[in-house]
Amino acid sequence: MIKIIYSILCCLFFISCTKEYYFQPGEVWPDNHGVHINAHGGGILYDNGVYYWFGEHKVEGSIGNTAQVGVHCYSSTDLYKWKDEGIALSVAPEGSGSDIEKGCVLERPKVIYNANTRKYIMWFHLEPKGMGYSGAKSGVAVSEKPTGPYQFIHSFRPNAGHWPMNVLDIHITRPVPSSGEQFSGGSLPAPPDSLNLLGRDMKGGQMARDMNLFVDDDGKAYHIYSSEENSTLHISLLSDDYTRYVGKYKRLFVGRHMEAAAMFKRKGKYYLIMSGCTGWEPNAARSAVADAPFGEWKELGNPCKGKDAEWTFYSQSCYVLPVQGCNDCYIYMGDRWCPKNPIDGRYVWLPIQFEGDSFIIEWKDRWSLETL
Ligand code: GAL
Repeated sequence: MIKIIYSILCCLFFISCTKEYYFQPGEVWPDNHGVHINAHGGGILYDNGVYYWFGEHKVEGSIGNTAQVGVHCYSSTDLYKWKDEGIALSVAPEGSGSDIEKGCVLERPKVIYNANTRKYIMWFHLEPKGMGYSGAKSGVAVSEKPTGPYQFIHSFRPNAGHWPMNVLDIHITRPVPSSGEQFSGGSLPAPPDSLNLLGRDMKGGQMARDMNLFVDDDGKAYHIYSSEENSTLHISLLSDDYTRYVGKYKRLFVGRHMEAAAMFKRKGKYYLIMSGCTGWEPNAARSAVADAPFGEWKELGNPCKGKDAEWTFYSQSCYVLPVQGCNDCYIYMGDRWCPKNPIDGRYVWLPIQFEGDSFIIEWKDRWSLETL
């Protein structure tokens, strides 16, 4: 009898050790409590052998597209199983007048580690409460530990008073739109340079909406974001402590209306994946390559291949994750938004495959890191 029990226990132990894990793009992804992961528009920090996933904590109903709680953090050592680490950055109480007051729009949070100050620095797209999407600001919060709590330190528009590296004479001389003139994100009545949106925002700071961070091997960090009414991407160098801009920035893909930029580096080349501008609705992704963060960037077209490629497999990019200890392993991370019930938004993680100097993404119902 003892032998039988012992054999059964051994079998159970063996089965639990050999349990296979998979990524299942678009499916419910339970955390260690069995609850669907709540970290939308997210990004990943790798620190001391642990991956930390930060993202927007959404709630049920259309109110869930505004920040009711804050930024949620999860940790993992294998990328399949995620432990709930709680709220890393909490919104400020209603009525407090804080820039990150409950009900503001706080999107696409990203965290990087600063070796000079030994602090964890979080950046996010911030729309102060009640301003729709017209604020177009960047928010910064800082913590001593990766999981938080993060303290909000400031929000601002990028590079006030500075022209970009690739400014043209027309930006300095051409009239700018009057302050009352309204533009919508997806399209403009004329190209951004005819309107001189760059000149319009030079003094007060450029607009910054969908955003990402990138830290290069030399420790320099960059903020990349949709600017000029979402018509043009900007990439800005950050200060050595990663909490501010230094006035050095460049305009990329002028008038191409891109959002959801995510940047990564492979074999000395820099890559970007981006989306078009259709709000929560999916569209065809774009990709680009360069030899340096400030470019010159060359567009490579839609990296997605196969069925539903023109909809980025019903997702929008939020991050590209280099898998640690794995040569040439990069994961595309995207959101399948659910604007009517944002908490039910799903995650689409897919392997990136390289073809010469460009890359492709193909749909997989189920896959594991072994695929890479
Ligand atoms: C998307 C953007 C999201 C969110 C949404 C609001 O295009 O990527 O982060 O801002 O628009 O409509």
